Amino acid sequence: MAPARSHDGQNPPPPTGEGGGARRRRARVVSGAEVGAVSGHPHPGPPPPAGEEGSRRLPRTRPAGRTATPADHAAVVAALAGRPPRRDLLIEMLHALQDAERGLREGQLVALAEHLRLAPAEVFEVASFYAHFEVLADGAPAPPPVTIRVCEGLPCAMAGGAALLDRLRAAPPPGTRVLPAPCMGACHEAPACAVGHRPVPHATPESVARAIGVPAPPAPPPGTPHPGRRRG
Ligand code: FES
Repeated sequence: MAPARSHDGQNPPPPTGEGGGARRRRARVVSGAEVGAVSGHPHPGPPPPAGEEGSRRLPRTRPAGRTATPADHAAVVAALAGRPPRRDLLIEMLHALQDAERGLREGQLVALAEHLRLAPAEVFEVASFYAHFEVLADGAPAPPPVTIRVCEGLPCAMAGGAALLDRLRAAPPPGTRVLPAPCMGACHEAPACAVGHRPVPHATPESVARAIGVPAPPAPPPGTPHPGRRRG
């Protein structure tokens, strides 16, 4: 009788039963001490069960990662002013928190994540994605009350935005700071600028001063290109 063929028709199937199995080498569990004896390096051996005396793992006493303080939670609750804890309102809540705190403190972002039952990374991702949000370290000083953002996109730069940014930066109106910003979606009103949340179309130093409610800056020396106007 011909020997049985395996499924590929080439090789006979491996022997089974005691007779065939005797020729196979059986896998054996090797202890850590044996590994150490062969390699020359002592093997640490398996970890002891958690909770046993002498365990190297210490019990976790607080959550991993950044945590929010009671003050962070209080700031978030105050800024949200009774808004429902809906995740689809995350951006609106970030705006409210930034307006109240002049920035988004890291601890408060964690508190907001807990408030909305989101992972802190999700809240940090959104907060750090948009240029109009500013994430601040917990101990960082608060920025000035008013932020002036000047668009530095190409259409605005060609319309005088770059000169406007230079001039505002050289002499920021009192109580303000001046930051460059990406396109604000107001290219048809270039150069675009925002005082806080208030857009200033076709911005000039004078119109920015009016939007803030401060006196207009002194006129530049003759011959200086006027920011906010196209150069002919
Ligand atoms: S490039 Fe300035 S608003 Fe678009």
